[in-house]
Amino acid sequence: MTASGRSSKVTLISDSQDSVCFACPPGISILRAAKNAALELSAGCMQGRCYTCRSTLLKGSVVNSRPLSRYAMIDPANLGNGKVLLCSVTPTNDIIVVPEGPWETKRT
Ligand code: FES
Repeated sequence: MTASGRSSKVTLISDSQDSVCFACPPGISILRAAKNAALELSAGCMQGRCYTCRSTLLKGSVVNSRPLSRYAMIDPANLGNGKVLLCSVTPTNDIIVVPEGPWETKRT
């Protein structure tokens, strides 16, 4: 959640430098917010296990969108080398992120 409680702006950038922006409300995972914005990102388990949604955070910061299990082996908000799992994190401010997988817009 942002300090002001407002939505954060999420900018996705692809390897080919395409970009798209959408709002992520406080406490909602980035993957869920993308879906609400009619964007389909690569995803699988939605629980931080398959790494399909792994992405590189270029700017801004994220925190886990739900409490971690005490048995969690990884921290989705910090996999190392700037990597995060979009299904399990929420932005704390405006962010720029590069998903490893493709995305597509469901509406025109
Ligand atoms: S969708 Fe499986 S780790 Fe994010």
